[in-house]
Amino acid sequence: MSVRSSGSRALLLADAAKEFAADVQYYLTLHPRQLPSRYLYDALGSALFDAICRLPWYGITRAEARLLETHGPDVFDRLERVSTIVELGSGDGEKLRVLVQSGASHARPLTIHFVDVSSAALTASARTLSELDEVAIVLHETTYEAGLEELAEQPRTAGRTLAVFLGSNIGNFDAPGADEFLRAIRRGLLPGDGLLLGADLVKPERALRLAYDDPLGVTAAFNRNLLVRINRELGGDFDVDAFGHRAVWNEAASRVEMHLVAQRAQRVRIPAAELEVSFDQGERIWTESSYKYEPKQIVAMLESAGFQCAAQWIDAVDRFALTLVEAV
Ligand code: TRP
Repeated sequence: MSVRSSGSRALLLADAAKEFAADVQYYLTLHPRQLPSRYLYDALGSALFDAICRLPWYGITRAEARLLETHGPDVFDRLERVSTIVELGSGDGEKLRVLVQSGASHARPLTIHFVDVSSAALTASARTLSELDEVAIVLHETTYEAGLEELAEQPRTAGRTLAVFLGSNIGNFDAPGADEFLRAIRRGLLPGDGLLLGADLVKPERALRLAYDDPLGVTAAFNRNLLVRINRELGGDFDVDAFGHRAVWNEAASRVEMHLVAQRAQRVRIPAAELEVSFDQGERIWTESSYKYEPKQIVAMLESAGFQCAAQWIDAVDRFALTLVEAV
């Protein structure tokens, strides 16, 4: 096993801090007020999200693990001669380990590219896959989009490439954003290459509400940590206690919306973003949407981005889908 870093860092630390400040300034002054969800994942936020994945009410991670365990071999049967895997947003590498081990006899030697903005996630992923033979690992510490561009420039090996985008990450894009993102993935691939996509399905409202507003309050802490981060990194003076977590199922839009709600009127200063914001009581900051799909919608979305469906597997317990498609 060899591990190589692509050597690219999309953003230097100082630039990253500037971009955070600029985003906070822009999004917090929109109406309704918003904050981009990618800022939820600092070191504490990532640890809280790992905890969310272990909550009895958040079934996505376990459903996906079951599907990968059961249907991993089918992925490599339907898509023969895979020599390269690209995982966008690697987490700790555990899901990919399950997938790669299930295809052990087919897909070797194998090069795995991990693309993630978090260096901690990349290191953990490399460690998780390090015991496998005949596997070379390349780390790309950058955004998905920049990572896809880097990959398009790499020399191609003889076999196929399989791109992997798991969890319910696709659900955090709105419809035009998801379409654009799937097209960007398609541009990084050649005809015959594959994409394995995870996506959460529409289910009863009560289950959705508990998944995004759990009785232990871990999800609330995860959401509020965004304010803690603004206080720490941008010198903000948010009274974190004065914001409540709210998850709302918007049936018409088929999405769960996550908000932070001001419990009383207040004024907040964020010096590094050169910003002062007044909140009315009950005013919200919209931090994330999580779209839920019908299985056919997922296929249609992939087809319109230039793929054809090879297989779709659905977890009956938690209503989650893994869809395997081929680039046309
Ligand atoms: N991608 C995850 C999802 O949509 C993120 C997530 C889970 C999340 N719980 C959250 C984001 C609560 C904001 C608030 O399922």
